Amino acid sequence: MSVPFSQELLEAVASSMITAKDMELLVQDQAFIDGRWIRKQQTFSVQEPSTARVLGTVADCDLNDVQSAIKSAHAAQKSYYTSTTAAQRGSLLRKWHDLVIKNVEDLARILCLENGKTISEAKGEVLYAASFISWFAEEATRCYGDTIPSSTPNTIVMTLKEPVGVCGIITPWNFPAAMISRKVAPALAAGCAVVIKPPSETPFTCLALTKLALRAGFEGKIIQVCPTKNRQVASELAINPLVRKISFTGSTNIGKNLANLASGTLKKVSLELGGNAPFIVFDDADVDLAVEGAMMSKFRCSGQTCVCANRLYVQRGILNEFTRRLVQKVSELRLGPGIEDSCTQGPLINASAVDKVKSHIEDAVSKGAFVEIGGSALDFPGFFMQPTVLSGATTDMVVARDETFGPLAPIFSFDTEDEILKLANDTEVGLAGYLFSRSVGRVMRVARELELGMCGVNTGKISAAESPFGGIKESGYGLEGSKYGMAEYQSIKTVTLGNVHL
Ligand code: SIN
Repeated sequence: MSVPFSQELLEAVASSMITAKDMELLVQDQAFIDGRWIRKQQTFSVQEPSTARVLGTVADCDLNDVQSAIKSAHAAQKSYYTSTTAAQRGSLLRKWHDLVIKNVEDLARILCLENGKTISEAKGEVLYAASFISWFAEEATRCYGDTIPSSTPNTIVMTLKEPVGVCGIITPWNFPAAMISRKVAPALAAGCAVVIKPPSETPFTCLALTKLALRAGFEGKIIQVCPTKNRQVASELAINPLVRKISFTGSTNIGKNLANLASGTLKKVSLELGGNAPFIVFDDADVDLAVEGAMMSKFRCSGQTCVCANRLYVQRGILNEFTRRLVQKVSELRLGPGIEDSCTQGPLINASAVDKVKSHIEDAVSKGAFVEIGGSALDFPGFFMQPTVLSGATTDMVVARDETFGPLAPIFSFDTEDEILKLANDTEVGLAGYLFSRSVGRVMRVARELELGMCGVNTGKISAAESPFGGIKESGYGLEGSKYGMAEYQSIKTVTLGNVHL
């Protein structure tokens, strides 16, 4: 693994500031409330993770702003729903999708600069984000209700699927584009209005996507964006009675708090929270596939996804071989500022993210783990942590129970199927997990026993617009993407038509 911080590289990064001419049309630093861009006296700074310098400042909304946005969205939502057909809403989404694709380069640059992920990952994320818009453009017209045989004579029972109303959307910094579209596209397809609180670390991508949505023709008041650094202000989305649904992706603690607040008005709630993904490799696995899967699942977004492998469990018979090959692959990674094409791993989001990975490594090493590769943060103004593999991990280490959210792969060993099921399920969360084996019987047995919302078998890639995304236990509830994703933004009204013979 090399660290390419040459003078040329630093100059390339310096010349990639977000004010570059070709991006002016998409960059926005204001809030979008009641159909207008609003400049605020009060702003907050957004830091560039590659350099730790300030990338720009953004409007910092206060409680009044969020309340105005909610009121305006509420006033606009009904007529948006009743004045458009499902096909028209689908067509607006299709136009938004096409604009996102047309602007993929600029969006990826904004995303890469504010989040730190590499430019090729950023492009991949923009395409991933677009795939949700296109998926829900099509789902808009496929939301059928039911007709139900009634137990009462001369009676017809039917259901209507209706938009829930105003939705509060709170998204994370690790996927500044895709988590917006995964929530906003189904809401708009269903006929809802949205008030978005983008992540304070990465608001520019959301604001750029909003510009494109408006260009696509969405009526200004059904999308409102309130950047804020103030958690109390964001909580208004969970408290305000005019908001009928809240969708949140982020930490389990904040998710629990929002669910508590939302219970005051019994809003619909979807929570996509933390994970502690087990990555299980059995003796009979294809080791190349398992290593490839581990690289994808562990080091995507520098380990900062909630579905990243957190605990790598390898059956004793192939432990040494798997470890050797994984270390070899990790040595080929190139850590550096994401904007530079040759880098495969960008920085982490901020200094505390680096500190967390370091503390997990220190704890593991103090309890007997061995650093096979990596292990240190770089002495550079940005937030760079070396991709790290630890062998000899054990259950008493912090890495066994706490989500690292960084590029650290701790390898544990196991002997039997029963043992691994106990280890894998011994956690209060249950989002994603992975298993590698050539035995169909074992795959089905273990997949069924794992307490997870999503299970990748012989692959490290599980996320896609068509696949239901969500967890169980303290990883939250509600599904995103897929044919189920839109139901989260709809309510079902039962209409009973009596005395139809009259
Ligand atoms: C997340 O980390 O929150 C989302 C990851 C994904 O969509 O794959």
